[in-house]
Amino acid sequence: MSEHIIHFIYLASAACFILSLKWLSAVPTARRGIVVGVLGMLLAVGGTLLSPTIEHYHFIAAAFVIGTIIGVPMALMPMTAVPQRTALSHAFGALAATLVGAAEYSLRVPNLDRFTMGALTLEVILGALTVTASLMAAGKLQEVLPTRPMVFRNQNYVNLSVLGVALLLGVLLVVNPGLWPLFPIMVLLCLVFGVLLIMPIGGADMPTVIALLNSYAGLSASMMGFVLDNKLLIIAGALDGSSGLILSIIMCKAMNRSFTNVLFGAFGQLQMTAAAVEQKSYRSASPEEAADLLRTADSVLIVPGYGMAVAQAQHKVRELFDILTRQGTNVHFAIHPVAGRMPGHMNVLLAEADIPYDKLLEMEDANPEFPQADVALVIGANDVTNPGARHDKSSPIYGMPILDVDKARTVMVIKRSMNPGFAGIDNELYYLEKTLMLFGDAKGFVSELVKSLNET
Ligand code: TAP
Repeated sequence: MSEHIIHFIYLASAACFILSLKWLSAVPTARRGIVVGVLGMLLAVGGTLLSPTIEHYHFIAAAFVIGTIIGVPMALMPMTAVPQRTALSHAFGALAATLVGAAEYSLRVPNLDRFTMGALTLEVILGALTVTASLMAAGKLQEVLPTRPMVFRNQNYVNLSVLGVALLLGVLLVVNPGLWPLFPIMVLLCLVFGVLLIMPIGGADMPTVIALLNSYAGLSASMMGFVLDNKLLIIAGALDGSSGLILSIIMCKAMNRSFTNVLFGAFGQLQMTAAAVEQKSYRSASPEEAADLLRTADSVLIVPGYGMAVAQAQHKVRELFDILTRQGTNVHFAIHPVAGRMPGHMNVLLAEADIPYDKLLEMEDANPEFPQADVALVIGANDVTNPGARHDKSSPIYGMPILDVDKARTVMVIKRSMNPGFAGIDNELYYLEKTLMLFGDAKGFVSELVKSLNET
């Protein structure tokens, strides 16, 4: 196949990736974004397979089989495990970039110009540290490794020294690519740095870190594009790198955290004291009592959170939405940007249950609606509704923008207990006069609500 046609295929593939990112950024076009992204990847792989430089198709076929055997079960992991699945994908992507970099180095040394060696060094440094960091992140999220931050004295100095030596070796290799014994040492130090980087970060911050690792893996692939003189890799890697960085910045902002605080803050160690919970009183209600309140409400704002995802309650929530809408109640969903455990978590689940997009309100649009709402029904959300974030300077979520649930006339909260959420802190919403706690599993409780409402 002529080089021109392959370049044309690559161009079409790059266009697909750009359109995919554009369409993925809005809920109504997200499905189209996925389809076009898949098409872009098919074109990229297809175009590469047509390259006249490929000689050993049997190796590629074997890799394809191995990749499929690993990839299919990974794709079938439940939605709540998507952050760790994503971390594993980054680990594989970064491993590929590191191996290609090492192979190119061993094949071409010492005939590597400074620019290529610079790109190759960056590719390998970013790739190697992303491999181990992503594996650590996946392990923490899956709880096969301790989720709490693991800290030791002078940790930041040790970490930065390891990275510093690796970078120094990289510079020496760029100056003189023939110093080949330095190459494996540099790779090893980066692998160690990946482990050290993640050790002090608590499970709480892992999704943000994964977005950052996505960015590193993308930049590594982009550098690989310079080494292999492959424009598609340069473009796709840059898109991946920048979108990962933007996503992690958005997540940090939504949690009111800084990058340095995420990377060096050892967040997630807080525990709620038993005394703090015991002394306060709260009101609870049965499904029938809650259904009575919903029956008389003119407007209801539903606030989904991580608990709805765990309970897989979205289809029951859809039934509740249908019944309330049929009885003439104005129902909307208030979506916090970091509700759940991954960006867009609630949007994905509600879309799965075919809840109309126009009923979903982003935080900025939802907050002015709470004072007019008769009922705010919180389903498995906790931190994103905690009014303490507005005024309690000692709270780890102080400053995090929250949904103004406490401004609704009546608040009902479905959760199983008074246990804290992700940030490990008590929620003052639960002790307000207007709040009713509805204890139970989200799916089971919403089913009971639907049953009660259907009985009238
Ligand atoms: P959380 O604050 O984690 O609260 C979830 C609540 O769901 C828990 O209090 C839990 O209470 C309840 N729950 C768990 N399983 C349940 C079940 N089967 N049925 C009913 N309730 C259940 O969730 P949130 O309000 O969605 O906030 C998200 C948190 O994650 C924030 O702190 C955010 O900063 C953090 N975070 C989010 C992201 C992204 S991108 N979304 C990334 C990193 C961190 P019980 O145990 O009493 O049931």
